[in-house]
Amino acid sequence: MATGSGDDDGGQQQINSLALGSCLFGCFKGLFECAWQCVQFWTPLTVIVILLWLIYRPDRFRPRVDSAVLAALQLDATDGQQLRYDLAVDLSFRNSHSRLTIRYLDVGATAFYNGTKLGPADDALPAPFRQGPKNTTVLHPAFRGAVAVDSGVAAELERELASGTVHVRVSVALTLMYKVWLAKEVVFYKYDCWLWFPPPANDTPAVFDAGTQCWAT
Ligand SMILES: *[C@@H]1O[C@H](CO)[C@@H](O)[C@H](O)[C@H]1NC(C)=O
Ligand SMILES: *[C@@H]1O[C@H](CO)[C@@H](O)[C@H](O)[C@H]1NC(C)=O
Repeated sequence: MATGSGDDDGGQQQINSLALGSCLFGCFKGLFECAWQCVQFWTPLTVIVILLWLIYRPDRFRPRVDSAVLAALQLDATDGQQLRYDLAVDLSFRNSHSRLTIRYLDVGATAFYNGTKLGPADDALPAPFRQGPKNTTVLHPAFRGAVAVDSGVAAELERELASGTVHVRVSVALTLMYKVWLAKEVVFYKYDCWLWFPPPANDTPAVFDAGTQCWAT
């Protein structure tokens, strides 16, 4: 009633607000009932999930790069648009729980330079596997090949090589399953591991031995 007179507007607004009120009440009541049903239904499940989460703290689980060797990261001499890479990484996963076994359903690793995907690991990483309590598993993804890069990435590599440090990112994707009694919890996490190397030379691969934690993304 946008064109009505002032009085009409008042009446209309009153009716509107009454209608709105009862509608809101209805919605609220419906929501409340619905929420209550959800609570009744989900509470046992939620409690289990929260308990599992508190026991396992999957958010505290982080892979680690112990060391890495960069044998090549260079632009092809012929056209300067192909980036040749050769990277090997020791990637370790530590189950620090004292009783619980972690099941690794899927493990993936991909290397990136300045946002450009170099490639996934040459060989599929072993999965699924089980990792006992207080154990460390070390996987050895290797990345070798060549990718076409744009001039921005090529320029960034030239800049980093000249400055004496090149940075490579290894992205790790994990699907883990935690199992307690009958309850199972599957978590998916992605991590970034940042590695830095001196420029590799033809006959002397660059070594990263500082070790670094990977960070959940
Ligand atoms: C690539 O390097 C340039 C120069 O340091 C930087 O500005 C840019 O954000 C980098 N791109 C990515 C995706 O990391
Ligand atoms: C943990 O690792 C050690 C060797 O590193 C092995 O002997 C032991 O069986 C492993 N425990 C489990 C539960 O997998």
